[in-house]
Amino acid sequence: MTTLTLRRPDDWHLHLRDGAMLEGVLPETARHFARAIIMPNLVPPVVRSTDAQAYRDRIDAALPAGMTFTPLMTLYLTEDSDPDDFATAYESGVINAVKLYPAGATTNSASGVRDFDKVRPVLERMAEIGLTLCVHGEVTDPDIDIFDREAVFIDRVLDPIRRATPGLRVTMEHITTSDAVDYVTDTAGHIGATITTHHLMINRNHMLVGGIRPHYYCLPVVKRATHQQALRKAAVSGNPRFFLGTDSAPHTDDNKETACGCAGVFSASNTMACLAHVFEEEGALDKLEGFASLFGPAHYGLEPNVETITLERSDEAIPYPAKIETGAGPVTLFDPGHPLHWRVLD
Ligand code: NCD
Ligand code: ZN
Repeated sequence: MTTLTLRRPDDWHLHLRDGAMLEGVLPETARHFARAIIMPNLVPPVVRSTDAQAYRDRIDAALPAGMTFTPLMTLYLTEDSDPDDFATAYESGVINAVKLYPAGATTNSASGVRDFDKVRPVLERMAEIGLTLCVHGEVTDPDIDIFDREAVFIDRVLDPIRRATPGLRVTMEHITTSDAVDYVTDTAGHIGATITTHHLMINRNHMLVGGIRPHYYCLPVVKRATHQQALRKAAVSGNPRFFLGTDSAPHTDDNKETACGCAGVFSASNTMACLAHVFEEEGALDKLEGFASLFGPAHYGLEPNVETITLERSDEAIPYPAKIETGAGPVTLFDPGHPLHWRVLD
C-alpha cells in the first residue's frame, strides 16, 4: 500500500451545466477539487457580468450541505462583448477569465467569434487589466481536416492574436498535439496550457479500433499516439506552463449513444485516480502535485490550496461506477479501459 499526499487540486477547465445536470455532477468535482474554472457554454451562454453572477449563485445553491467548493467564473466572448462590462466583472471579482470559442468549434459555440478583428478592443482591454483569455484552439474552416484543426489554429489565429496584443495572458485549453506542446513550451509571454485526464490516457485508436466508442469522443478530438506521448511528457515535465483542466463535460447517455453524438468526456469522479495511474506509469508521482495543485493557481495569480488530499494505491483494482445518475439522466464516467488502483481517501 502506498499513499501520496498533495495540496488539494483544482480543475482549470470544467463544464458543470445547469439545473438537474449541475446538481448531479457538482458533488463529483467538489469531493476532490477545491476550485474550478467554470465554462460558460450554457444555452444561452454566460455573456454578461450579471449572467456570471447569477450562474455562480446557482452553483453555490446546488452544492450539497457540508461540501465546500469555489467556482471561478468565466464570460463567453462574443463579437458584441463590452470591454467595460468585462473589466467591471473582473475588477469586482465576479470572473477570473474569459473564454474564446471560435464559432461552430464545439458544443454550444454558435455565439462564438467569427471575425477576430471584431474582438480586438476587448482583447486589448483584457491585456491592460491582466484578465486571462482561455482559448478553444481549433479552426472551424470546413477545408481543414479535424485532426489538423488545433495546429492550424496556432499558426493562423493564436499566434497572430498574441503578437497583435502584447501582454495578453492566455490559457490554451485542452491541448491535444505536440504542436501545441511545442508552442506553449517555446513561446515568450504569459501563456499556459491545460491538459485533460483523458487526453493523457487515450488516443484515436482507443476511440476507433474494434468499434466506435462514443464516450471517448470529445473536442478537440483525440489524436494519434505520438501526440498522446507528447502530452504525457509535458504533463510530467514539471514545466509550470502545463497543468490540469479535466474538461469534464457531461452529456446524458442518450445524447452520446446516438447517430450524431455530442462531444464531451465526463471524468470528474475518477480523474485523480486516473492521473495517479498516469504519473505512476511515467515514474513521476512526485510531479503530480505541481500539475494538479500548484501550477494552475500560479498561472492565474492565486495561492495554492492550504488543505491536502491523500491518494492511496491498492494491489486490488478499485471499482468506479460505470455511470452516475443525474436528474437529467445517466452520464457515463470515463473508463480508461484498464483497472485503476488508486483512490482518494475521504
Ligand atoms: C465540451 C462540452 O461538451 O461543452 N465538449 C468537449 O468535447 N470538450 C465543449 C468543449 O470544451 O469543447
Ligand atoms: Zn471544455
